[in-house]
Amino acid sequence: MFKKIKYSDQYLAKTLFKRTLLFVWFLVTICFGFWYLNIFQSLMQGQYSWWYLLPVVLSLGLTAFFGWGVFWFYRSYVPEHSDFISKYLKTVELRQMISLLIVSKGFFDTASDDNGTFIAYFPKLKLKVLHKTGQLILQEPVDGQKYMESFSKNEFDNVVEIALLADRQTTEFSKNKMISTFAFDPIKFRRRLKELKPKKGLLQISKGIDWKYDTFYNVLISGNVGTGKSYTMFAIIGQLLQVTKFVYIIDPKRSDLAGLKHVTELKNNVFSVASEINQAVIDFYTKMMARAEKIEAIKASGQVGTYKDFGFAPYFLLFDEFGAYYEMNDRLAYDDPTKASYETAMSNLREIAMLGRELGFYILIGMQRPDAGSLPMAIRNQLNMRINMGVPTPEIEKMVFPDNEKQLRPLSSHLKGWGFIKIGDSQVRSFFAPEVPKDFNLHEYMRENIAIRESQGNNGR
Ligand SMILES: Nc1ncnc2c1ncn2[C@@H]1O[C@H](COP(=O)(O)OP(=O)(O)O)[C@@H](O)[C@H]1O
Ligand SMILES: [Mg+2]
Repeated sequence: MFKKIKYSDQYLAKTLFKRTLLFVWFLVTICFGFWYLNIFQSLMQGQYSWWYLLPVVLSLGLTAFFGWGVFWFYRSYVPEHSDFISKYLKTVELRQMISLLIVSKGFFDTASDDNGTFIAYFPKLKLKVLHKTGQLILQEPVDGQKYMESFSKNEFDNVVEIALLADRQTTEFSKNKMISTFAFDPIKFRRRLKELKPKKGLLQISKGIDWKYDTFYNVLISGNVGTGKSYTMFAIIGQLLQVTKFVYIIDPKRSDLAGLKHVTELKNNVFSVASEINQAVIDFYTKMMARAEKIEAIKASGQVGTYKDFGFAPYFLLFDEFGAYYEMNDRLAYDDPTKASYETAMSNLREIAMLGRELGFYILIGMQRPDAGSLPMAIRNQLNMRINMGVPTPEIEKMVFPDNEKQLRPLSSHLKGWGFIKIGDSQVRSFFAPEVPKDFNLHEYMRENIAIRESQGNNGR
């Protein structure tokens, strides 16, 4: 149900608190009714005693104690729980915050007359809180009034995002109003690894965030050690294996991903030794160029389209710890033969990043610091979906999300596997990567996904 936001809502919690206390005090006083009656009768008979003050002191004391309880409940219990009362109080807090934001931003007008100052205009905002999905729906006026543009140009939405630590998901315009949806509880959008279901051209990241690889082709996953880059890749690789058998994995640090070479179906697709890695990139490039020729031949007959239209399967190259690869090769002497193949691989990678999309050759790069020194700008600029696991430092934020204005704050202090994502030109959103269960076996998981693809007869060429 939508609730209208009022000027007085900025004190909503305080008002409710005061009213509750008043009610409790009233209740206690009524309960002490007989006591008061006795005292009154004694007073009428001319008997006085300090003890007669006891019920007054007691009711004040009880009210104060109750007030302290309510305060503790609001501060400590409510944020951690989701029962009926907690939900109600969370809604109260959100309403209060929205009202406060309108007031602090000055999106309202006052006027005065003989009786004093009054609110001449207060924008018509309505709020609905969906606790189940952790969403907040805000209806804002686009009604020709003075502050209309602050709403329609998302100025207000941006403040809401910052103040509530929420992410704007959608904005729809209709007559005289716009409706923005925010996610204020990103963990509610987390998916579970085992439940991920890719569709043609689309991989699931979290509820409401998908990777449409044909549109937002290449991926960058940055973030400090231990923030969850590799785990996020597990979720992506698993889904890719359902979509296509052409998934190539590079892991120069020889960690979890390198181990995938022990999965029979992947044994020729996983590379972790320096010389192998260069060759893998070069091979990937060669395959891309071969496809380019085939497609050119098809197009020579006048047909139009991209690789999918001609029945080709997509290819993916997943490159974890790209920075380590760069450093390993940077140290090589110029006459080292590996250096030459490294140079070729790097220049091929640049071309794959630029030409791959139409041909169905995609790359995904995972690294800690995607600075221009270790990831050429020409490649970085072609990485269309950007993920940073954990909160980026200001420096990294400039590299990964150059024109972000939103303040990025931690989503959890005890859970791993969350970060920020920007797909194409959309704004940066916070997200939880698919949850990897404790008893997880990487190789089994990949085998299961390969089996799904094989059962669908999805072999491609
Ligand atoms: N999505 C996730 N689900 C469950 N645990 C995770 C997730 N992401 C990260 N973790 C935890 O964090 C640790 C580090 O993650 P990892 O992907 O290896 O980090 P990185 O590759 O960025 O160094 C993992 O060993 C795991 O315990
Ligand atoms: Mg890793």
